[in-house]
Amino acid sequence: MEINSTFDIQLESFALKYLAFFAAAFLGLASCNTPEPIEISLVPYPSSLETGTDRFNLSSSTQLIIDDQGDFSEEIAFFQSMMQQAIGQKLSDKSGENIIEIRKTESSENPEAYHLKITANKMTLEAGAAEGLFYGLMTLRQLLPTGMESGEVSNDIALPELEIYDQPQYGWRAMHLDVSRHFFSMDYLRRYVDLLSLYKLNKLHLHLTDDQGWRIEIKKYPELTEQGAWRTYNEQDSICIEKSKEDPRFALEPKHIEMRDGTPYYGGYYTQEELKEFVSYAQTKHVEIVPEIDMPGHMMAAIAIYPELACNGEAAWGDLFSTPLCPVNEEVYTFVENVLTEVMDIFPSKYIHIGADEVEKKTWEESAAAQKFMKENGMQNVNELQSYFVNRVSAFLQENGKEVVVWDDAMAGGIDANLNVMYWRNWVAGVPDKAVQNGNEVILAPGDPFYFSTPNSKLFDIYNKPLLGSKFPKELTYKIKGIQACLWTETIPSEALADAMLFPNVLALAERAWSPESAQDWNSFKTRLINQLPRLDLLGVKYAYNPTTKLIPFMNVDTDLQQIGITLESEISEPTIYFTTDGTQPTTDSNLYEGEFFVKGSAEIVAAVFQDGQPTEPILRKQVDYHKAIGKSVEYHKPWNKSYPAGDAGSMTDGYRGGESYNDGIWQGFTNDLDVTVDMGEKTILNSISATFMQAAGPGVFMPEYLEVAVSNDGETFETILRIDNDIPVSEKEKVVKEFKGSLAGKEARYVKVVAPNVQRGFIFVDELVIN
Ligand code: ACM
Repeated sequence: MEINSTFDIQLESFALKYLAFFAAAFLGLASCNTPEPIEISLVPYPSSLETGTDRFNLSSSTQLIIDDQGDFSEEIAFFQSMMQQAIGQKLSDKSGENIIEIRKTESSENPEAYHLKITANKMTLEAGAAEGLFYGLMTLRQLLPTGMESGEVSNDIALPELEIYDQPQYGWRAMHLDVSRHFFSMDYLRRYVDLLSLYKLNKLHLHLTDDQGWRIEIKKYPELTEQGAWRTYNEQDSICIEKSKEDPRFALEPKHIEMRDGTPYYGGYYTQEELKEFVSYAQTKHVEIVPEIDMPGHMMAAIAIYPELACNGEAAWGDLFSTPLCPVNEEVYTFVENVLTEVMDIFPSKYIHIGADEVEKKTWEESAAAQKFMKENGMQNVNELQSYFVNRVSAFLQENGKEVVVWDDAMAGGIDANLNVMYWRNWVAGVPDKAVQNGNEVILAPGDPFYFSTPNSKLFDIYNKPLLGSKFPKELTYKIKGIQACLWTETIPSEALADAMLFPNVLALAERAWSPESAQDWNSFKTRLINQLPRLDLLGVKYAYNPTTKLIPFMNVDTDLQQIGITLESEISEPTIYFTTDGTQPTTDSNLYEGEFFVKGSAEIVAAVFQDGQPTEPILRKQVDYHKAIGKSVEYHKPWNKSYPAGDAGSMTDGYRGGESYNDGIWQGFTNDLDVTVDMGEKTILNSISATFMQAAGPGVFMPEYLEVAVSNDGETFETILRIDNDIPVSEKEKVVKEFKGSLAGKEARYVKVVAPNVQRGFIFVDELVIN
């Protein structure tokens, strides 16, 4: 009887399943085979993502099973708050329609890794550590309807069938905020952390002190904040106030202004208690707060109060930067160690940043004590004195179990290999190369494109611009800890403006930091970014998404097929582009751009993004030449400048034409004359030559006095056959690109000597010698 009964139940259950299967198949057919795919718009894109066509219906009758050995309690609480927002209630462990299982796996190699699998009746999220689980939850959050961000509840949420294996490319995925130049409230910092964690960034570098304000309470030196956190309006404030007449986001936040005897004081600081609470909060979002106390320069907020900390006892400014701490005064080390002791008490972070950027060392040169110290210790120059300071302060922090981060300027006098170098000066050649060769680990934060406060910081570049030069030693790539972008706030006084400078750029940074290069795809990112904007809206982020219709051309020179491939990129998602190759204005009857196209010989490409059938500004013009000198060897009678080698000796005959910036790795720079000879390999009929130069007077880049061309057949006796004089005045302030082009009248020769005198003694930049 019992046996029969069990059998019956089994049979019944089998029949039910069978029926259900047929019903599902039938319904599937009736509703036109496969359901509409659910759009998956994750940022950052996972390491591996596979999708199916089934759906998982998330509702209040979904059962939650937890198998976490008690290690994920904070994350589970976070998951439940997400459920509260999405479906209006927490999930229970009562058996229901389907199952979500959260599991702790054997700890994986990378604690930030997670695995998410969604099928029709079960979702499994597993990770070896809390960080990984948290990132899995952030992925799940982005799969939930955007409305959940504002508590828009639905009891029938369809999630797509998928499987994700994910882990970050880099362990250091950071944003920075300068809270010294302008102050930001604790509420703003918390929301910043929330947003960083949503996009899987894991560090916030807080620039807490600088010349313009000291923002961290130090109990031993209360004056640092009593006085150093406040100022009457400075020049930067005045600039902001002026700009606020046009754009209210430049207005100083009233909450950071205090009236004292009728005079407005701007400022603010964080108490130690506030900072400790903030650090704990950020820990729940797996964001490490890395504090920076910038020294020995950028210390005027402190030196103004304690002038004895400067070598000359004066709180003053040098030619470029403020007077630094005096590295040969023992009182300085007492001060620094006392401050850092309190900093370490507040911040449990593994890392402490001690700045070491932009130190004006004149007061050290002029100090008898400093000179005596240097002599006694065999130091050749003040850069070595800075290294002494940096190494001594670092040793103190390391003895206390911390790792130290410095800006790359610190390398000038040599640094210990155990320091982490933060690369920011993108205009100095080979900084990351030298740092890794010295044994240091490096964080890539090049000002262009990662200083979000500068106009150079464009979405395309943030996502795409190479961060390392072509000579970076590939075998040392493991020394790159990660990437970071910075927000310097000299002219960013408000939360609204900070939001606008940060977002959506942060999303591009986040994808670059998290996703493996194989999963980074600019075209896909542009679309996914647009799909993220409603979420940012609901989160109250005042982002500035203004993609330009500017086209960015890329060349691919193919010496086998003797042609140049052209690719056009744009910040616009799925742009419509028309182009011509004969210099004429494109219309909708011109070539429709559908991907790379090829130029043999010469072409003047004119291209534009079209909207509503009309070309939009700016219109791209690009001269492309597959010319006779491509691949031919060039002898340099005078060297290129080591900071701007482009592709070394092949650069002027490689077919590549420079872009808008002289440091794009294509323009080759000279601080002496350009003086080279091209060997055409054999006697060649020479019809024309052109060389293009750039002038950017601000940074000291000028036109040559003239371009002179001489030819020879034996490489010894040359006949001058062309001279083209410059006609761009030195006084021209705007950036100019000028092609020096002339006829060689069909002359036959093997060697072509090109001279362009550098008369201004600044830089001259040239991209290509086009010989036909
Ligand atoms: C810096 O921008 N001075 C690090």
